[in-house]
Parts: sequence; C-alpha cells; structure tokens
Amino acid sequence: MAVLEKLTSQQAIDLENKYGAHNYHPLPVVLNKGEGVYVWDVEGKKYYDFLSAYSAVNQGHCHPKIVGAMMEQAQTLTLTSRAFYNDRLGAYEKFASEYFGFDKLLPMNTGAEAVETALKICRKWAYEKKGISENEAQIIVCENNFHGRTTTIISFSNDPVARKNFGPYTSGFIKIEYDNLKALEQALESNANVAGFLVEPIQGEAGVYVPSDDYLSKAKALCEKHNVLFIADEVQTGIARTGRLLATCGDCSCSDKNCSGTPNVKPDVLILGKALSGGAYPVSGVLADDHIMEVIKPGNHGSTFGGNPVAAAVAVAALEVVRDEKLAENAFELGELFRSELNEYIKTSNIVNLVRGKGLLNAIVINDDENSETAWNICVALKENGLLAKPTHGNIIRFAPPLVMTKDQLLECVAIITKTLKEFE
Ligand SMILES: Cc1ncc(COP(=O)(O)O)c(C=O)c1O
Repeated sequence: MAVLEKLTSQQAIDLENKYGAHNYHPLPVVLNKGEGVYVWDVEGKKYYDFLSAYSAVNQGHCHPKIVGAMMEQAQTLTLTSRAFYNDRLGAYEKFASEYFGFDKLLPMNTGAEAVETALKICRKWAYEKKGISENEAQIIVCENNFHGRTTTIISFSNDPVARKNFGPYTSGFIKIEYDNLKALEQALESNANVAGFLVEPIQGEAGVYVPSDDYLSKAKALCEKHNVLFIADEVQTGIARTGRLLATCGDCSCSDKNCSGTPNVKPDVLILGKALSGGAYPVSGVLADDHIMEVIKPGNHGSTFGGNPVAAAVAVAALEVVRDEKLAENAFELGELFRSELNEYIKTSNIVNLVRGKGLLNAIVINDDENSETAWNICVALKENGLLAKPTHGNIIRFAPPLVMTKDQLLECVAIITKTLKEFE
C-alpha cells in the first residue's frame, strides 16, 4: 500500500491504532476535508464541526485569507530561527501588541509552551522586580484547571489521568477553588511569596464553567493589592470565542441593548494560542507590558520555531479575519440564540439538566453521573446525525462551532442536537 493511498475510515483508524501511541480516544470518524463550519469524512459524509479543534478553528476551516497568507509566505521563507531577524516577525509583534493592547509579544507555538513561558516570566519578575527570595516564588492556580500537558503544568493539575505516574512534579504552586474570591484573598494574605495568579476566564476543559460576573475583576483587584501578576490563560476562551475579543474584555461592541457585559479586566500577562492561527499552523504567544516583559533577556527563553515567518503571516491574517468578519459580535449573538433555544428544549427534557457558556463556548450537562458513558454515546449519535462534538466528561458535552456560522446554520444544528437528545429521553 502506498503511504498516501486513499484509505477507508476503518483502514485509517486501524493504522492509527497499530502505529500511533494511544494518547487520545477519538470519536470513530476520519476526516479529510474542511471548509468553514463543515468537515467531511473519507466516505464523503458532511458534518457540522461543533468542536473547532478545541476552539482553534474559530475563523472556520481552511479560511482562504489565512491559507493564502500561509501559502504565500511558505513559498518565500519558512524558518530562519531567531538567530537572525526576519522581515515578518516585527510587523506581527507590533500588530498583535496593538490589537490586544500590550507593549510586547513573546511568540511561541503551542498553548502549553505559552503557559510555560508565562510561568517563567512571572517567576523571573517575582525575583527581579518584586524582590522575592530566590526559589521561593509561588503561583496560585485553580482546582480543575487545564493549561496543557507539560510536566510543570500537570504538576498543578488535579486530573488523576493527566498526572498519575508522571511525577516527580514541579513545586511552587498553590491550588485554590475556582470562582472563590475568599480563597484567593486568603492565599494572598497568608503567603508573602506569591508571584502570580494563573486563571482561565472560563474553565473550558473542566466543562465550560463560567465564573460569577465580578470574579475576574475582583480577582484582578486583589492581585493588584498584593503586587501579584494576574495571568489570564485565554488559549481556549480568547480571540472572539466567548462573544468578546477576549473573555476578560468587559466591553462588547455588539449592538444588544440588554448586554450588560462584565467589567473589563486587563491581565498583566495574557496567554494566547489556538485561534491565533485560525487552526492553520501552531501559533501561540504571551503578551505583557514592558515593565514585566523586560525581565526576559537574550538566552533566557526561546524556541526554534517561535515567531517564524509563516507563523507571523498566518497570525496577522487570522486576527484580521476576526476583526473584519466581526466574529466576536457573531459569536455573541449566536451564543444567546443557542442557549435560549436549548433552554426551551431543556424545559421538557429529562436527559439534559442545563446549558451554560458564553458566546459560542457552551456545554450541556447530561442527567447522568460523571463516569457514565452517556455523553459519549450521545456524541456518537450526533455524529450519525451529521454533527461532531466531544464530551469533556462522562456527562458534559461541549458545543463550540466555528464562529463564521450563520443563524440559519445554527438553527439547523440546534434541530440536529435536540432530535438526537430526544433519542435518549
Ligand atoms: C486553557 C488552555 N490552556 C492551554 C492549553 C494547551 O494548549 P495546547 O494543546 O496547544 O498545548 C489548552 C488546550 O486545550 C487550553 O484549553
């Protein structure tokens, strides 16, 4: 068999099972094409994508502007390493810094790398600016967090599957309950060596937990009071997903008169990934103002691929698409519609307990226990009915379509979802 011979779904699955490490448990569907809100399997069946590669494909699959920028750059110059300057990086750093309102960007590739970068910046800032004694810095994190898969990051996870038998773990983290300001205040007051507070504005992997409206702004105020960096991990929530450019943005540019918004919070350190490339290429980064970023000096941190010319071209195009196509506004409006339609259904449902989320980052909670197979079985049935979604837990299904969806498409998807759920009533 030629290596790139056209395969059936079963052949492709068999190959992955035999030759790939079993570090994922995918739905049994093999995709070979994507366009906008749709993906196709190798047998030609079309699906609505309701995962968007964990919110990387906010701009839709194979967006022509993003793919065009990538192809053009790939034919000119792909990689120089940071041993030399390239003509795309500076322009991208200026564009991204102004776009998100920070002085500087530190470019990386994956979300986990960007989180690691933020942790390193925070610790170095603590020793060199805050005056914490060497090796004493602590970073506060939240229970049920998800920030990636590196050894340090899993050190402060409380997911046993992600942690077990990967020790010894990195120390220097204090874990508190999410959405609990008292716990944050206590942790800050009882420890003078706190350097930062790392938080997801909405806990995506944990099951789309949206904190109280004032949580982020009050947490930021507490951090300011204690001279602690407020580090927002917006790898999943950022770049229009939650109906704002960032989930920490309080001001919505939508025209909804009833939109109360949430207080605006500017993180000291902002972590982005995923949709920074629209899913075309691994691009991540950390943004901060000069008084923080200046602790990083030549040789302190880096990456062969971080800030390469293709990444820079792709990221600029991806961010332009978000702005030009008003994806935050669309996510805001469609998110309201999605939750109101599902709430109508839930009134008479005994299989779904609730829907929650912001913008187009939503989840339903199934009326079954956390370790049940129900959410998985519903996702398999959704697939049969032409919509792809994935459980985050045994009883929680996340719904996060590309943000280029239209209202008619969303209503068609709601019909598929409710029809499928009724099969389980
Ligand atoms: C909030 C958050 N941070 C970090 C990551 C890690 O990103 P990556 O998988 O690109 O390393 C993820 C991935 O899902 C995430 O949701």
